[in-house]
This record gives sequence, C-alpha cells and structure tokens, in this order.
Amino acid sequence: MTGNYDPGPRIAHAGGINIGTPDLKRSLEFFNGLFGMEITYEEDGVAYLRGYQEFDHHSLVLTQQSEATINAYSFRVARPQDVELFHRQLTEEGLEVKVLPAGTEAGRGEAIRFLIPGGGHPVELYYEIDKPKAPDDLRSRLLGNSSRRRALGVRRLDHLNVMTSMATVNDAEAWLQKSLGFKRREFLTLPQAPGQILASWLSVNSKLHDIAIGASPNGQDAQFHHVAFSIENFADMLTAADQIKDMDIQIDAGPGKHGIGQAMYLYLRDPGSGHRIELYSGGREFFEPDWEPLEWKADNPAGMTWYGDLPDIDPATSAYVTTTPSAGLELPSRR
Ligand SMILES: [Fe+2]
Repeated sequence: MTGNYDPGPRIAHAGGINIGTPDLKRSLEFFNGLFGMEITYEEDGVAYLRGYQEFDHHSLVLTQQSEATINAYSFRVARPQDVELFHRQLTEEGLEVKVLPAGTEAGRGEAIRFLIPGGGHPVELYYEIDKPKAPDDLRSRLLGNSSRRRALGVRRLDHLNVMTSMATVNDAEAWLQKSLGFKRREFLTLPQAPGQILASWLSVNSKLHDIAIGASPNGQDAQFHHVAFSIENFADMLTAADQIKDMDIQIDAGPGKHGIGQAMYLYLRDPGSGHRIELYSGGREFFEPDWEPLEWKADNPAGMTWYGDLPDIDPATSAYVTTTPSAGLELPSRR
C-alpha cells in the first residue's frame, strides 16, 4: 500500500434533522424548554438547536411550515473533500444530486441533497459546520460540554429512524450499506418470509445505529418514524418519564429497554409538529471489524422490549406504528 491510498468518502455520524412544524412556538417549548436544548440561532420561522454536549452549530432545525414533513436527514462526512467525492459517486450511480450552498442551514457549509433510492428519504451530507460558543450565562465549566446541562438534559442527537414500504426496504437498506458505507449491526426479519427485513439498525461508528430503516405499516415510502436524542443514563430516563406523564404530551411507548441494541427508550410526540421523538440512553457498543449482524425474528418479543411497556404494534390501535411523511428532493417552502 502506498502513502497515497485513499479509502474513499465516508460518513462520520448522524448529524442532524430538519423538522417541519406547524407550531414552532410549541416545538421550541418542547425541545428548548423541556429537553433543555440550546437555541444557537433563530431567524424568521427557523430555529437551530443543539444538545449540551454538541459543539457543532446544531443537530436540530425546526422550520415553521404548514405541513409537518421531515425536511432533511443530515449526516456529517469524515473529511471536507468527502462532500464532493460523494457527489461524484452518487451522480455516477445515476442519482439526482442537488448542491445546497453554504448557509442553506445557518452555520453549515455546502451540502449535497439526494433521495435514498427505494426509500425516497431526503438525505443531506455536509462537513463544514460552525462551532459557536454558548453565551456566558449558558456556558459550562466542564470543558466537554458546550453549555450547562439543563432541564431533562439532552446531550446530543443519537439516531434517525425511517421507514419505507415492505417492497422497497430490502433494496434501500442494501443501498445504505453499499453506497454510504453503513454497517448493519442488528436486524429484524419476518419468520414466514426468510430474508424479508422488517427493520435494520446501521452505523458507521460504535453505536447501534446512526440510521434505522424499517418497513412502514402504511405501505408508503419516504416515511419518518422517529429521531432519538441521547440522555445520560437510565435514572435520567425514569425522571423524564415521571415528569412527562404529568404533562399534556403524548407518550407512544415506554419507558422500557429494547432487546435489540439494549438501550432504554421513551417515545413521545413533539406537541408542535406531531412527529415522534425518542429519548434514548445506554445500549451496547460495536467495535469488532468482523461483527456478524444479529438476526432477530419478529416473533421474539425480547427484540422490541426486554423490559418495560411493550409497544402496541397493532396498526388498528397503535400510536407507535404510525409514521409522518418526508419532503422530496426540493425543500418545502417556509410558511
Ligand atoms: Fe430509536
């Protein structure tokens, strides 16, 4: 191997989500007031937030718009040149790729935007992002924290969970591995249809997942299931549940611990947008270069829930299996 060896473009981690919300004020009360996320920048109808251990400008964008779609699922690439290298690679694959000029999201450099083949979810890849210092009254004495821990104590974005139809999920999941370099960590299959993926958890680092993709119960592509934000430990999760139970906030499932990935979960709805949000803590880690993905069968209830509330998964009655739509290749207009 020569010193010029280039491994090609790589994704570093799930970096952000842009959520369309018809009620920005209520969404801000939820993410800023209840979750304790810092608002790093606000302009007309758009707010940018981050957790207390995130130095990047934002991991969450809340955009006021009439339709509660997810506008973008964003990933940070490993090197500055990887945005252009991915652009070239995806174009060669035949994908339509849009270039988003620096500042399309405040604080972020140039990005590319495309739809996951099969899935139809709008993905944005970027490298450059500002790292603003928190104002004095929010700054932490802990060097590892960008701001003081506040409210329920959201540290950072953990992962994105998207869905597409049963007919497209296998191909979309395979594409995430082949073209974006995600590694399958654990996956869930239908016992009566060997090889049919119901859900798959994929990462580019030691986490269980930067992205999970599953089969949507409504049979539609480009669906959003939830975005997860990390809190420090299980005790924090129980405190969060204790407080939220007394609020006018819809809880879809939890608190409980997943068998798959072994993290603790609590699924809520952002009252402003109606999108499902997960509080997430713990979980096993994945370091082995030869990791063999774990196959869970859907008839094993330990996969979904090891302990705690088992989510209702009957589409006729469940609030947990519903999904919300994603935007297309064009960004929706703000309203
Ligand atoms: Fe999740």
